[in-house]
Amino acid sequence: MKAGEKKMKMWCVSPLLSLFVLHLEANSGLKVRITQRGLNYGKEVGMKILQQEIKEKGFPDRNGTQTFLFGTVDYRVSRIQITSISIHNTSVVLVPENRIVVAVRDASARVSTHWTLNNWLLDYHGKAEISILGISVTATINMSQNNRGYLLMLVPDCRMSIGGIKVQLSGRGSWYYDMFFQYLEKTIQRKLQNRVCLSIKFRIQKMAAALKKLQATSQIDSFAQIDYSLTKPPEVFRSYIELDFKASVYPIRNHTELLFMTVPFSLPDNNDNMMYFGISEYFLKSLSLSYYTVGASKIHFSEEHSSSFNLTTEALSRIIPEIAQHYTESHLVRTSVVVTAAPTVWLQNNSLTVKIPCFVEVSALLLNQTMQPIFALNISAITNATVAITEQRLIGSLQLKRLQLSLTYSNIGSFQVSFLKNLLACFLHNTVILPINDVLKRGFHLPNMARIAFLGPAIKLNQGYILITTDVSYKY
Ligand SMILES: *[C@@H]1O[C@H](CO)[C@@H](O)[C@H](O)[C@H]1NC(C)=O
Ligand SMILES: *[C@@H]1O[C@H](CO)[C@@H](O)[C@H](O)[C@H]1NC(C)=O
Ligand SMILES: *[C@@H]1O[C@H](CO)[C@@H](O)[C@H](O)[C@H]1NC(C)=O
Ligand SMILES: *[C@@H]1O[C@H](CO)[C@@H](O)[C@H](O)[C@H]1NC(C)=O
Ligand SMILES: *[C@@H]1O[C@H](CO)[C@@H](O)[C@H](O)[C@H]1NC(C)=O
Ligand SMILES: *[C@@H]1O[C@H](CO)[C@@H](O)[C@H](O)[C@H]1NC(C)=O
Ligand SMILES: *[C@@H]1O[C@H](CO)[C@@H](O)[C@H](O)[C@H]1NC(C)=O
Ligand SMILES: *[C@@H]1O[C@H](CO)[C@@H](O)[C@H](O)[C@H]1NC(C)=O
Ligand SMILES: *[C@@H]1O[C@H](CO)[C@@H](O)[C@H](O)[C@H]1NC(C)=O
Repeated sequence: MKAGEKKMKMWCVSPLLSLFVLHLEANSGLKVRITQRGLNYGKEVGMKILQQEIKEKGFPDRNGTQTFLFGTVDYRVSRIQITSISIHNTSVVLVPENRIVVAVRDASARVSTHWTLNNWLLDYHGKAEISILGISVTATINMSQNNRGYLLMLVPDCRMSIGGIKVQLSGRGSWYYDMFFQYLEKTIQRKLQNRVCLSIKFRIQKMAAALKKLQATSQIDSFAQIDYSLTKPPEVFRSYIELDFKASVYPIRNHTELLFMTVPFSLPDNNDNMMYFGISEYFLKSLSLSYYTVGASKIHFSEEHSSSFNLTTEALSRIIPEIAQHYTESHLVRTSVVVTAAPTVWLQNNSLTVKIPCFVEVSALLLNQTMQPIFALNISAITNATVAITEQRLIGSLQLKRLQLSLTYSNIGSFQVSFLKNLLACFLHNTVILPINDVLKRGFHLPNMARIAFLGPAIKLNQGYILITTDVSYKY
């Protein structure tokens, strides 16, 4: 093989290689980052919920028969009620690659209960106040994804230790109470341990289920749906967690993979807010493509609409004198527009540009009701989009900035196309931009849990993605 040939081969192979690499890096339409600050807030909320839950659920009565040194007694502990819990020292620590460790240190709780002890010899009952001190809990949450791209959160490890239990009895006391309560202490310790860890697991499960539901319910409206599967397992870094969602929009009942790729992006290294959302060009492109697929023919200009302009060949000949040469009598003019391809979208620093390719045909309505085409144009309507956040929805609106015109055919010879710009801008605004804005005004829900509201969200257009930074607040 000659050197030149070899070089040639390399030239052919390297684009293939780069294609391959591109495919390994899956498109991500939405990145969500939860920072340490966000997790700290989440932890505070979680502790309050957990505390409430443990308190409300209480414990079931316990009874049984226990053999002590002095003999066998039947006991019953009832109306076990946690009267207070005090938690002051908690932490949430991120452990790369996929773990979060939540810890509670030196918490305490007070429990009140009624008790009875009896056998053939004795029959006592009373109340007890139990203080549980030095409670420490450490729960490890493992983040991963299942094969359908749903977020999984498991609690592989939950440990609890208790520094000490103090029992204050009311009722008549005797030496065997001590023995009984030593037994009781162990039981309470075991029970509490199970209860707290079960509650934590239950909470995490519930949260994971809610997230799963969020990922699965993806319908935007009667035309389109979003695929919110994860493109890679959740990533845990030292100071934040990042989730990469596909966030690809599909026409409803047509979940076909999109063939285009977009440049991967990363969120800025700023972790002051609780949450960061990055919405990429990929999302916007898939949105454009699917709405084009389902609604392309819908942006067909209706005849009635056209007549509201009451454009005539006579009026039009004031802009294009060539018309007068072909139409001596005045005829009504009908204009039709078709969007010919999915609008293209690109995001740059501080601007989101949407280019809508249109085909516009201008015809004269003859006296015998026949439409006679006068000329047709290919038009690129270039718009500037404004985006905003309201109530966890991303909303948008397009403003027409300029038109690129090219004459497709003309039955009146060549003429100065640019004279039509103002007229066409007005026409396209009413026929194409307004209907699109109606869709964008309804907006798109950002994935978020119930009861969580954005607090002071800010939006910024960056190269390749829309950045939303926000704090959150939980509605109890
Ligand atoms: C515990 O109490 C229940 C009803 O309150 C009773 O059916 C059961 O026999 C008791 N068990 C013992 C071991 O005393
Ligand atoms: C919380 O617990 C940790 C570990 O035991 C300890 O270092 C820290 O001082 C405690 N903080 C407070 C406010 O008690
Ligand atoms: C945590 O998740 C990872 C990834 O799914 C898994 O490989 C690992 O075994 C899990 N660890 C535990 C302790 O469950
Ligand atoms: C499904 O969607 C893709 C891309 O959005 C489109 O190219 C294709 O024509 C659609 N198929 C049907 C049956 O609508
Ligand atoms: C358009 O012309 C029709 C008659 O041809 C008239 O009834 C209608 O009011 C006119 N509309 C406008 C908006 O001028
Ligand atoms: C966009 O802004 C970022 C950060 O401000 C900057 O690094 C980047 O070079 C800018 N890109 C362009 C194309 O101006
Ligand atoms: C309508 O009139 C035009 C021009 O006068 C003529 O070319 C066309 O054939 C007519 N169409 C019908 C359906 O009569
Ligand atoms: C596009 O819109 C944004 C936001 O409204 C604005 O800041 C920017 O100047 C506009 N760009 C152009 C080219 O009009
Ligand atoms: C007009 O657009 C169509 C695609 O919609 C394209 O095939 C055609 O070449 C364009 N014509 C001109 C003159 O730009």
